[in-house]
Amino acid sequence: MNTEKKRPSWAEPYKIKSVELIHMTTREEREAAIREAGYNTFLIRSKEVYIDLLTDSGTSAMSDKQWAGLMVGDEAYSGSENFYHLLEAVQEYYGYKYLVPTHQGRGAEHLLSQIMVKKGDYVPGNMYFTTTRLHQELAGGTFVDVIVDEAHDPASRHPFKGNVDMDKLDRLVQKVGADRVPYISLEGNVNMAGGQPFSMANLKELNAYCRQHNIPIMLDATRTIENAWFIREREEGYADKSLRSILREICDLTDGCTMSAKKDLLVNIGGFFACNDEEVFLKAQNMVVVYEGLHTYGGLAGRDMEAMAIGIREAVNEDHQAARIGQVRYLGDLLRKAGVPIVNPIGSHAIFLDARKFLPHIDQDDFPAQALAAELYLEAGIRAMERGNVSAGRDPETGRNRRPALELVRLTLPRRVYTQAHMDVVAESVIRLYENRDQIKGLKMIYEPEYLRFFQARFEPLS
Ligand code: F0G
Repeated sequence: MNTEKKRPSWAEPYKIKSVELIHMTTREEREAAIREAGYNTFLIRSKEVYIDLLTDSGTSAMSDKQWAGLMVGDEAYSGSENFYHLLEAVQEYYGYKYLVPTHQGRGAEHLLSQIMVKKGDYVPGNMYFTTTRLHQELAGGTFVDVIVDEAHDPASRHPFKGNVDMDKLDRLVQKVGADRVPYISLEGNVNMAGGQPFSMANLKELNAYCRQHNIPIMLDATRTIENAWFIREREEGYADKSLRSILREICDLTDGCTMSAKKDLLVNIGGFFACNDEEVFLKAQNMVVVYEGLHTYGGLAGRDMEAMAIGIREAVNEDHQAARIGQVRYLGDLLRKAGVPIVNPIGSHAIFLDARKFLPHIDQDDFPAQALAAELYLEAGIRAMERGNVSAGRDPETGRNRRPALELVRLTLPRRVYTQAHMDVVAESVIRLYENRDQIKGLKMIYEPEYLRFFQARFEPLS
């Protein structure tokens, strides 16, 4: 039932039992910290951060029930009771038959890519995600973006910017042949596009096409409950359905999933691979013992699996998601009203500042989004994440920066962690920066690691 309709407020459906004190820093301390961190917000020590909006990954607050779940961890090497609780929850809510736990999402992506991608294959997807694409490439595949064009335009108000462009997909399949396409990688609430959903109609069309061409659909289920929220809100015929039933309908139209449980599922660590095909499952079950751990724990403690099983049930709760999405919109509306350029429509997990529009005087190879994230930290101790030219990396063929259409700074909201007053502080700080945006300068990259460079790259201000 859609409780949001009955009640206009998104007030939190919980009260606070325990708090974590945070350290307020001075401008001098922040100047030293960001210099030390090479102007990369990933490299700042968290004790130097006031409001941490780096990511919603593993940063959510667990409930008292989840903490209690940690105490019933069955830390047996094999056959832990908690694995069976997780299996039951995955089967009940996601509907896949087989489950292989992994330490987090990329562990599952590694299994999927190694099992299904062969050298010379093409993996279409509704926009890249950093780790997902890298694992496809490491397995010898080439990622091909088949998301609708609107996803690359921050100003477009398309309600389902996460949709697959069926013509783009068909052109790829015609060109390389369906047997060179091991699966389509379909992400719920597309992270790099600004947290944008796909529609059920699009998924149904995709499912029909993929059946015809014998191409499996592998879902990145990381934020798919949040995707279900938007389907209900925006798609005809779903207004009266529960999140739970929409989630199940999505999964039933796909063949398997990778999951970073650190997002939707409200845990600090965990993930899984799930599927319906026994042959694929047996390969994943065998491979997980090489890279993660035995197939009934996959790199996790029993207690982590218990917290995840409980997290699944809490994540499909209607009031929880109303508050989650309500808080993100509250922040987005404050920024929009002040004229700050952000990605529209507002997604579920973050507000994305459009750094191209914010800093039109900085060339993309001088990393405007990286510079803006560093400035926001300096200004207010708020930590955000670059999602632009640094994150996109280099084209393996030309060796040049990919210069993606989206040059964004992500203000990511952990679940159940910050208050409305924190959101006010974030909005005030971003607005202050926007008023003084002319003074912000670009950055020069002075250290570039080989893989996923955004995590560890170092920069210097351009003089
Ligand atoms: N897929 C998506 C859509 C993600 O957002 C992430 C992680 C992963 C896969 C990988 O999962 O981190 O558990 O290994 N996203 C984090 C973020 C890092 O900040 O957006 P992981």
